[in-house]
Amino acid sequence: MANITTDIQACAQALRAGELVAFGTETVYGLGANALDPQAVARIFAAKQRPEFDPLIVHVADAAQVDELAEVRSPILMDLMQRFWPGPLTLLLPKRDCIPDLVTSGLPEVGLRIPRHPLALELIRQAGVPVAAPSANLFGRISPTTAQHVQEQLGDRIDWILDGGPCSVGVESTVLRVDERGYGTVLRPGGVTLEELRFVLPNVTLAPGHLESKASASPGQLLKHYAPRKPLQLVTDWTTIAIPESCAALAFQQQPPGNFVDIEVLSPAGSLTEAAANFFRALRRLDAGPAHVILAEEFPETGLGIALNDRLRRAAAGSGEPSDW
Ligand code: TXA
Ligand code: MG
Repeated sequence: MANITTDIQACAQALRAGELVAFGTETVYGLGANALDPQAVARIFAAKQRPEFDPLIVHVADAAQVDELAEVRSPILMDLMQRFWPGPLTLLLPKRDCIPDLVTSGLPEVGLRIPRHPLALELIRQAGVPVAAPSANLFGRISPTTAQHVQEQLGDRIDWILDGGPCSVGVESTVLRVDERGYGTVLRPGGVTLEELRFVLPNVTLAPGHLESKASASPGQLLKHYAPRKPLQLVTDWTTIAIPESCAALAFQQQPPGNFVDIEVLSPAGSLTEAAANFFRALRRLDAGPAHVILAEEFPETGLGIALNDRLRRAAAGSGEPSDW
C-alpha cells in the first residue's frame, strides 16, 4: 500500500530520486515523475499498464520553467497563460531538447500546464524539476479525484500519494493547440470551457476527431476511455426509456423517475461546476455498487457540459469490457 500523506518534502525528495508520486491537482490526481529523467517516466507507463507510450502532460510551477522546456512564440499564448494559469488548461508548445522523447512520444510538441492547487505547486517547486503526470488511474479506467481512488488502483505499485483532498474541478484539463496563425483547436474538452477560451481565441474550435475511435494525436481521444466495468448507456430523456432490471442512474439535476437500485444526482442546484466536481467519484461509486447496468443522463452541451458529455460518451464506448485496461 502507498503512503497517503501531506508530507511535501518527502514526496519532492522521492520525485528527485526518480520515484513515482501521485498528487492531487484541481482537475484529477496525477501520477508524477521527474519529466527530465526517462527512466522515471518509463515507470509511469509500467505502473499504469499503458499498452503503448502516450504523450504526457508536464506540470510546472511558474513561467520561468516554461521557457526552459518549450518555445512560446506568440503573444496569444502569453495571453492564454496569463488568463488561465495556474489552472486546468494544457498548452501544446514546441518542445526544447531537454524534454526526453518518451515524454512526448516522439512528437515535436510538449503539453504544459501550471496546476491550480497549492500542494501540487509546492511539490513541483520543492522537487525543483518539471513533473510529467498522466491521470493516476490504470489505463482506460475512471480518473481518480481523491487519494483513496489512487490507492485502490495503484496503491500496490507506488509508494507516495500526496493527499490534496477531493479535486475541486473534477474533470481533466482542456488540451489546446494554437497554430502559427493564431487559430486554436481543443483536442480534449476539459476544465477551461470553450466559452472561456473565446475571450482570447474567438475562433477556437473543438477538434473534429475528438470523438473518433482511434486518434494518434491524443490518447484522451481514444473513444474507449474513462470506462466503468459495468455497461453504461446514455440517456437523453428519462421519460421515454425502458429501465432495465438492477439498474443505477447517474443524473444531472433531478432524481429520475423509475425503479433504480442506486442513484447519484450530481447537482440538485443544476450547476455544471458542481456536477463536474462530483462526476468521477459518482461514476466509481455506481460502478462498485449493486447495479448491473448504469444509465447516465447527458448534460446540456454548454460550458463544462461539453467535457462531461465527452467523458460520458467515452465511458459508454468502453464500459463492460474488463480487458480494456
Ligand atoms: O488535468 C489533467 O490534464 C491531468 C492532471 C494530472 O494534470 N492529466 C491528464 O493526463 O489528464 P492524461 O495523460 O491522462 O491525459 C493527457 C492528454 C492525453 O489525451 C494526451 O494524449 C494529451 O493530453 N497530450 C499530452 N501531450 C500531448 C502532446 N504532446 N501532443 C498531443 N497530445 C498530448
Ligand atoms: Mg487520463
